[in-house]
Amino acid sequence: YETLDSASPRDFADKITIVIDTLRATSTIVTAINNGCKEIIPVSEVEEALSLAQNLDRDTYLLGGERNGVLIEGFDLSNSPLEYTSDVVKGKTIILTTTNGTKAIKKASSAKEIIICSMLNVKAVADYLNEVKMDAVILCAGTEGKGTRKFSLEDVITVGAVISRIDGADIDDLSYASLLLYRENRHDLHNLMQNCFHYKYLISIGYKDDVDFCLQEDIFDILPKYYNGTIKG
Ligand code: MLT
Repeated sequence: YETLDSASPRDFADKITIVIDTLRATSTIVTAINNGCKEIIPVSEVEEALSLAQNLDRDTYLLGGERNGVLIEGFDLSNSPLEYTSDVVKGKTIILTTTNGTKAIKKASSAKEIIICSMLNVKAVADYLNEVKMDAVILCAGTEGKGTRKFSLEDVITVGAVISRIDGADIDDLSYASLLLYRENRHDLHNLMQNCFHYKYLISIGYKDDVDFCLQEDIFDILPKYYNGTIKG
């Protein structure tokens, strides 16, 4: 397994790609799928989301996502997984745009298979990798900070949680570093994260409950996949 903090399309060819954005895009996607939404359409830009919505019946879809971590004007939901409850999302198409996460998913489009991973479904992802025994790339979405995209510790911790569940994995150094970091800190992730950029930012704008939720390990046994422009469970 290779873990990538940034990547070009050729890195994914013929490989399974696992996309991780622990805080919070892939946690939101996994939660929405678990709670019975019909599908999620990830898009990069707000304008794309709005124009896609124009072609759908108003009662069939929800617009979700964030910019700077908060609700986008005119959207139904922010990027808080706690808003994606079953009474809200059941049977709905969700058009989602986030700063880094949905872009990372789209970036992996040339991969053989694209799996959406968060701490919440880490065992389901590892079980699948153990079963298929294929080359895999793990793509960490990272976080936008001061105008550039940055490495995020919360993504790397989720990589470690996946890798720790793979039998006899042949891994690169970033995957190995992720594994060591996870093993050392798995019992107190909040202590590890307390100085992390996006963790601190989300708490500062009132999303402590989201952070607590997203750092729960293996609570959903689902394996969302991105195929043909949509994510389904
Ligand atoms: C992103 O895609 O950059 C994140 O999910 C941001 C967030 O925490 O909402």
